[in-house]
Amino acid sequence: MIPLKLLFKNKFIVLVGFMGAGKTSLGRGLSKKLNLPHIDTDYEIEKIKNMKISNIFEFYGENYFRELEQDTIINIISKNKSSIISLGGGSFLNIKLREYIKNKCISIWINVNIDIIYKRINNSQNIRPIFSKMKSKRDLEILLNKRNLIYKEADIKIDSGKLNKSRLVEKVLHKINKYLENNNENC
Ligand code: S3P
Repeated sequence: MIPLKLLFKNKFIVLVGFMGAGKTSLGRGLSKKLNLPHIDTDYEIEKIKNMKISNIFEFYGENYFRELEQDTIINIISKNKSSIISLGGGSFLNIKLREYIKNKCISIWINVNIDIIYKRINNSQNIRPIFSKMKSKRDLEILLNKRNLIYKEADIKIDSGKLNKSRLVEKVLHKINKYLENNNENC
């Protein structure tokens, strides 16, 4: 079931959620299924600076990264047509970005529990500066719980759990269709 309305409207599907939630992987899956372009905002930032995110943090600091993140995401949304966008884990915490996204996009929060997140981040090749600074899983959990209070402002919540990728894509499409049915005037 493909939400056809999406194909005709200038709408973005924006995936939000914590580090390791699977935003990039799900974004690719949705992009394939809906035949819409996929944009990973961290990857775009890395291309702009020709540096890995971890190096941007190291050499310029987090504030600089956050400003670049804000400009890059607003630029992407203002210049592109209907597409699937995977954000970095901190992007939706920025109030300006959050309001911008809520206005122009359908936001989807990929909610994953701490055990899965911790395992994924630990096994990942991707260096995550926010995680590198932490001492324990408990620190990560505290940040996750704090951020979840903001992620939950997204239009749609998906509990991803242990679903495989194709089941997850189906679940998301189902929820998008339901959302479009109930929010006709906004989309
Ligand atoms: C961040 C998450 C990262 C990346 C940066 C900051 C965060 O993206 O944007 O390291 O603040 O949670 P992922 O969510 O893809 O790991």
